[in-house]
Amino acid sequence: MKILIIGSDGILGWELVNRLPRLSEAERQPLTVIAAAHSHIEITNASNTSEVIVRNMPDIIINCAAYTNVDACETNIDKAYSVNADGAKNIAQAGKNINAKVIHISTDYVFDGEKNTPYTETDPTRPLSVYGKSKLAGEIAVQEINGNYAIVRTSRLYGPRRSNFVTKILNIGIEKRSVSAVIDQFGSPTYAADLAHAIWYVFSSDLRGIYHIANDGICSWYEWAKKIFELTNNQITLHPIKAKDFKRAATVPQNSALNCAKFVQASRHKMRPWQEALEEYLKNSVIN
Ligand SMILES: NC(=O)c1ccc[n+]([C@@H]2O[C@H](COP(=O)([O-])OP(=O)(O)OC[C@H]3O[C@@H](n4cnc5c(N)ncnc54)[C@H](OP(=O)(O)O)[C@@H]3O)[C@@H](O)[C@H]2O)c1
Repeated sequence: MKILIIGSDGILGWELVNRLPRLSEAERQPLTVIAAAHSHIEITNASNTSEVIVRNMPDIIINCAAYTNVDACETNIDKAYSVNADGAKNIAQAGKNINAKVIHISTDYVFDGEKNTPYTETDPTRPLSVYGKSKLAGEIAVQEINGNYAIVRTSRLYGPRRSNFVTKILNIGIEKRSVSAVIDQFGSPTYAADLAHAIWYVFSSDLRGIYHIANDGICSWYEWAKKIFELTNNQITLHPIKAKDFKRAATVPQNSALNCAKFVQASRHKMRPWQEALEEYLKNSVIN
């Protein structure tokens, strides 16, 4: 089986490129993994996208490419839609033309955060930000164009590739010895390595439709930061602040925790608690 990873230089794409071959060996299921970084493919360009996909003829395409700077999307609206919506559409169309399955990665920010419990796949979407709206438009395009799809919504991704909340809060904390973090927005931090492993189950079990996949458990940004400092033995003064006092360009959901029961039931693979995943990441990472 041939898998094309688009966005292979990003947090998730990089993990998939590195982990899928090892999983394939361990599971004795031969797999050819092809990495397509931004320098190899421009997903906003339909003919370039089609040309790269036809040249490689994958059985499965995993789209990890996105414009992920949530605040910057508020001012770069055209770019957000061009990458997150048109890019997803171009990939879905090119995939359909060669009968490839498309696994499209999406976000918890498609929800408005007003629900008090974790969101299921059937809950109504109502994104608050340009990023969330453009990602939802991408989901809709994938669903309309290519019947052979899986959409994986995840949340608060981090991994060794690129800066992320963990690296940012550690760097600020270590430099300033004092940092503020929001106490009233909740989600599930997700280790990209664990998500890459879960995506293995998505295609090996031929799951179709929308699936929520995140590490188990829910926390605020404040609780996440507290755990990061605890696990790295950093004595940093952490100030709790409310979201309304933390100025940022995008409005993000108050609760964007994902209910992953559908995935657990379909794959029989339960994601581990976010604290355990974070501990492993910090142990393996150069930040420590
Ligand atoms: N990060 C999170 O907290 C988070 C949370 C929930 C869901 N997600 C979703 O998870 C997926 C993976 O996110 P991630 O954090 O791994 O993203 P990331 O680290 O920002 O990587 C995205 C990749 O997409 C590439 N890319 C951007 N524009 C492109 C274009 N026009 N054509 C081709 N490639 C392009 C980027 O390349 P360049 O950088 O070279 O442009 C980068 O390698 C995305 O769908 C994202 O929406 C992320």
